[in-house]
Amino acid sequence: MGEIIAIASQKGGVGKTTTAVNLSAAFAQLGYRTLLIDVDPQGGVAASFGMSRYDIEAGILEIFSENIPIERTIHKTEIENLALIPCNVWSDEEEKRKLIGSAAESKLKSAIRPVVDKYNYLIIDCPPSLGNLTFNALISADSIIAPIQCEYYALKALGRFLKMTRAVKEEHNPSLRYRGFLLTMVDMRNNLTKRVIEKVKYTLKGMVFDTYIPRNVRLAEVPYYGRPVMLFDRFCKGSKSYFDLAKEIIASSEVVRQKEVA
Ligand SMILES: Nc1ncnc2c1ncn2[C@@H]1O[C@H](COP(=O)(O)OP(=O)(O)OP(=O)(O)O)[C@@H](O)[C@H]1O
Ligand SMILES: [Mg+2]
Repeated sequence: MGEIIAIASQKGGVGKTTTAVNLSAAFAQLGYRTLLIDVDPQGGVAASFGMSRYDIEAGILEIFSENIPIERTIHKTEIENLALIPCNVWSDEEEKRKLIGSAAESKLKSAIRPVVDKYNYLIIDCPPSLGNLTFNALISADSIIAPIQCEYYALKALGRFLKMTRAVKEEHNPSLRYRGFLLTMVDMRNNLTKRVIEKVKYTLKGMVFDTYIPRNVRLAEVPYYGRPVMLFDRFCKGSKSYFDLAKEIIASSEVVRQKEVA
């Protein structure tokens, strides 16, 4: 059965979409069947694969508002093993309201159920809020990856996030767990970054990934090229860091599986 991982944080611009896109591509290129699901009306996932509204017949909007079979919303990508469900809301306010209004608590969860076994990893990119859409993702998910941008205010937002995710776990999804907190846009030449990392690691004892994502201009170019970073610069630092993250997650999945068997 595939693991459903929500990439979430209520803070905007911390690297959620960059992580969802490039981590999914890394999983797929390492041979793991992966489904990337975008529930953010900003539609960053589609843009990162060079898709426009004319390439998409159905997506998250129809899953929430029309109950159509999930298979009709799954789009192939140029990467073998990687498929995606785009958030096809574009900039229409009415559509946005329709999506958010119709996002009843466990809609996504029941929509995903028929295809969970077809994938090793299902990655959900969340919007920068703790509203309905993120709530839907957290109710569907087995685990959470929370990117943390290494800046002064990073820890301030963390308390609220931990409180909200614990409440979802207690009240709606008891098996939800933190897969890990991911340090993003790291610049080790910067002293503040080093201090923030120390503080984050102290606060989140043992829950921070060993892998961190460096600030790397190639990652910022993903929407420009409309392709995950490994397709246009496989050996840059950004590409390597997302392969390392995928391997770190795969290795810990194996540990969990072996414990289950033992
Ligand atoms: N490691 C990185 N190095 C350089 N630029 C990055 C890196 N990660 C993300 N960016 C850039 O920072 C910006 C924000 O990243 P991204 O869109 O992934 O964040 P987000 O958390 O999904 O944002 P939102 O909350 O708006 O959905 C983007 O322009 C992205 O290209
Ligand atoms: Mg995003």
